[in-house]
Amino acid sequence: MKTRVKNLLNKLGVKISLEHGDIDVHTPVDGSVIASIKATTPQQQEDAILKAKRAFLKWRDVPAPVRGEVVRTFGNILRENKEELAGLVAIESGKIMEEALGEVQEMIDVCDFATGLSRQLYGLTIQSERPQHVMAENWYPLGIVSIISTFNFPVAVWAWNTSLALVCGDTVIWKPSEKTPLSALASQQLLLEALKSCGQYQEGISSVVIGEKDLGKSLVADRRIALVSATGSVPMGKAVAPVVAGRFGKLLLELGGNNAAIVTPSADLDVAMPSILFGAVGTAGQRCTTTRRLFVHQSIYDHLFEKLLNAYKSIEQRIGSPLDPHALIGPLIDRGSYKNMQTTLSIIKKQGGEVFGGQRVLESEYPDAYYVTPALARMKEQTEIAYKETFAPILYVIPYSTLEEAIEMHNAVPQGLSSTIFTTDLREAEYFRQRSDCGIANVNIGTSGAEIGGAFGGEKETGGGRESGSDAWKNYMRRQTTTTYFGSEKPKLAQGISFDTD
Ligand code: UN1
Repeated sequence: MKTRVKNLLNKLGVKISLEHGDIDVHTPVDGSVIASIKATTPQQQEDAILKAKRAFLKWRDVPAPVRGEVVRTFGNILRENKEELAGLVAIESGKIMEEALGEVQEMIDVCDFATGLSRQLYGLTIQSERPQHVMAENWYPLGIVSIISTFNFPVAVWAWNTSLALVCGDTVIWKPSEKTPLSALASQQLLLEALKSCGQYQEGISSVVIGEKDLGKSLVADRRIALVSATGSVPMGKAVAPVVAGRFGKLLLELGGNNAAIVTPSADLDVAMPSILFGAVGTAGQRCTTTRRLFVHQSIYDHLFEKLLNAYKSIEQRIGSPLDPHALIGPLIDRGSYKNMQTTLSIIKKQGGEVFGGQRVLESEYPDAYYVTPALARMKEQTEIAYKETFAPILYVIPYSTLEEAIEMHNAVPQGLSSTIFTTDLREAEYFRQRSDCGIANVNIGTSGAEIGGAFGGEKETGGGRESGSDAWKNYMRRQTTTTYFGSEKPKLAQGISFDTD
C-alpha cells in the first residue's frame, strides 16, 4: 500500500518525505501506516499567516475574472489527475473508488461554478430618498480564509471553499484532518500548478498546515483570519464558535447531521429503495448527509422493513476494500469509530430497538481495519439514542401514523442538515418542504449526494452555514454600502433632518 501511495503522490507531483515524521498516516483499508509526515510547527503556521496576508494585498487587486481563470485551470488540472487524486482519497478515507471519483468530480464542478461566478459577483444599486444621490452595495475581498475539514470529504469541502474564496479575492490556509493529510497535500500541489501556469503564483495564496487540534485552535483564535470555515462535529463547532465570535471574526459552520427520510403510503418504493440504501450505507454511513432515521407509515412498515432487510443482506456481499471495483461499502475510518458504533448498537437494544447487522467482518483478512455490515434498527418509537449522530451505518426505522406526527419526530432532533420525503402526493411533498426544519429538503431523492449548485448546510446544531453554490460566495466577501452625492447644492440629510447652521 505504501508503494501505491508513493506512486500516486509522485504522479501528482507531491515531493515530501514520507518517513520519520511526527504524524503517522494510517489507511483504513488495511490499517497499515502509509506515511509518516512532519507536522507544521507553530512558527511555520505563523509564517503561513504572514505570507497569506502579504499575498492577499496583491491577490485582491487581480481582476476577479483573472482569478477565475486560475480556478478554471485548476478544474482542468483536476480533470487530468482525477484517477490519481481519487485513488489517494480512497486509500486515505476508505471510501470506495466510485465515490472518491465522485468527490473529485465535485471539486471540478465547483471550479466551473466559481469560474462563472468570477464574472458575476454582483452588487446592487439602491434608490436614494434624496435628490442627486446614488446608492450602491459593493462586494470586496475579505482577507484570509481558514478552512478546517474532516476525513470523510478530504478534498471536496476544501474545494467548495477554496474555489469561491479565490475568485472572491481571498487567500486560504487549510487545516485538513490529520487522518487525510496526503490528499490535502496533493490537492494543494495541483492548485499551485494552476497558479503557476496562469502566471499568478505568489507564496501564500493557498497553504496547508498539518497537525492536531492545537494547530487548529490557534488558527481559529487568530485575528488575522477573516473567515473560519469549519466542517466537523457539533462539539468541534461548540469549541470554535465562541472563540471566533469573541474576536468578531466571520464563521461558517457545517457540523453534524441527523438526516431523515419519510416514506408515505403513496411512495413509489422502486424509487425510494435505491435512494434509501445509498443514503444509509453509502460511504459506510460516514457522510454528514447520511440517512440515519427512516420514518415509515405504519401501513407499509413491515413490508418496507422486509425489503430493507433483504437489500442489506445482499449488500453484505459487497463489503470490501474500497479499491476493489466490486465493493460498495468500504471500512470505517478507525477503531474509535467502530467502538462508537458498537456502543450505539448496545444502547439501541437497551432502549427497546431490535438490531440487524452491525457486525465486524473481514477481520481475518484485515485484522487492523474495521469493516462492518450496515445495521438496521427496528424501533417502536424514536428513542433518545436516535437524537444523536453516530458516524457509522446505522439506520433507525421508525413507524408513524400521520404525516404531522412524522414531521414532529423528524424535527425533534437538535441537528438540521438534510431531509427527504418519498411520496407521489403533491400535497404531502409540499407540506413536508414547508415543515422540514433542515437546510436541505428533498422529494423522492436521498438525503446525501447534493449537487454543488445549491447552497449546502443546515440549521440548528448543524451550524447555520452555507457553502458551495447559490449565493454562498457572499460569505467570502465583505459588503459595503456606498452613497454618493453628485449635486452642487448644499447636500440634504436623510430622514429629512434639518441641521441649519446659517
Ligand atoms: C459531507 O459529508 O461533509 O451531499 C459533505 C453530499 C456531498 C457532500 C457531503 N455532496 O453528500
